Amino acid sequence: MTVFQKHRGQILFVAGVLVALAAGWRAFPVLRFQRVPQPVAFSHKIHTDKAGAKCEDCHSLRDDGAWAGIPAMDKCSGCHAQPMGTSAEEKRFIDGYVTPGREIPWQVYSRQPQNVYFSHAAHIKLAHLDCRQCHGAQGESDTLGPARVDRISGYSGSPHFQDMNACEDCHRQRGAANSCLACHK
Ligand code: HEC
Ligand code: HEC
Ligand code: HEC
Ligand code: HEC
Ligand code: HEC
Repeated sequence: MTVFQKHRGQILFVAGVLVALAAGWRAFPVLRFQRVPQPVAFSHKIHTDKAGAKCEDCHSLRDDGAWAGIPAMDKCSGCHAQPMGTSAEEKRFIDGYVTPGREIPWQVYSRQPQNVYFSHAAHIKLAHLDCRQCHGAQGESDTLGPARVDRISGYSGSPHFQDMNACEDCHRQRGAANSCLACHK
């Protein structure tokens, strides 16, 4: 009798547990995050090309220095009170949100974990960084891809949108604060 034959039952059991663990390990993040389409087919490209809009027209620091983030409907309704074109997307947007005066429930792509402190003001006003430096070409995109929503917490956004190394590398190069407590609270 070989060792395998003698312990066949146990070996198969352990192998089964390992396979199940590996499958769960891979499937958990996939199952935990749901890919959700954005409510409105917004095109950055159309707005910068056809409407001549600047980033700051929609994403700005408020007078008190706080970051306004994703624009609310009042940034859209000025132009879209009347149809600007004839596309089905625009009609759906006007009928669904502008006319009834409803806010758009946008899903965020970039969001850091709760324990990380990040301020746009420090990076835009003090460090004079361009949006592209951290967000790539998202501001020139023609379509918004699906966002990632956590089924458990309900939050959207990838917590690893920008990893700690990227923050620390630039802070090191530019001599910005790099102690744990500069970014973690
Ligand atoms: C007409 C208004 C408008 C203009 C102009 C505009 N944006 Fe946006 N932007 C939006 C809206 C609406 C969203 C919401 C999509 C979403 O949920 O991410 C968005 C989302 C983004 C996001 C993604 C935020 C996230 O969810 O992580 C980035 C980055 C961004 N814009 C950068 C830019 C840059 C850079 C420019 C200038 C080149 C720009 N935007 C110009 C309206 C605008
Ligand atoms: C130094 C990197 C960096 C730069 C530069 C930067 N961002 Fe961000 N952005 C981030 C991070 C990190 C988050 C996630 C913030 C959070 O979780 O609170 C974010 C989130 C956002 C969001 C979505 C949610 C929110 O915070 O309101 C928008 C919209 C956005 N950025 C637009 C811009 C635009 C437009 C510019 C240029 C004017 C810009 N960002 C410059 C790193 C950056
Ligand atoms: C400065 C004026 C202006 C502002 C502000 C503006 N838009 Fe537009 N929007 C336009 C123009 C111009 C078009 C192109 C119309 C066409 O030629 O079909 C357009 C097109 C659209 C379309 C149709 C896109 C497509 O694929 O055909 C949607 C949806 C839209 N806008 C949503 C928004 C939202 C959401 C906001 C606010 C965050 C906004 N717009 C702010 C001028 C504006
Ligand atoms: C310049 C900003 C910055 C500094 C400095 C920094 N962190 Fe982070 N840290 C982040 C960001 C952003 C994240 C979230 C993204 C990620 O997980 O990479 C993070 C995530 C983490 C996580 C969670 C990792 C995970 O996978 O969930 C730990 C633990 C952590 N940091 C510990 C530290 C410690 C300890 C220090 C000091 C030695 C430190 N950090 C310094 C920005 C920073
Ligand atoms: C491309 C370069 C760059 C990247 C990427 C970057 N930062 Fe910074 N950050 C800076 C610079 C430069 C300053 C200093 C601004 C000043 O005070 O002049 C700064 C300042 C800060 C401050 C303010 C520190 C203080 O003095 O209070 C915090 C917090 C911070 N960054 C967090 C982050 C986090 C978190 C990330 C990643 C998600 C990040 N930064 C990514 C360049 C960067």
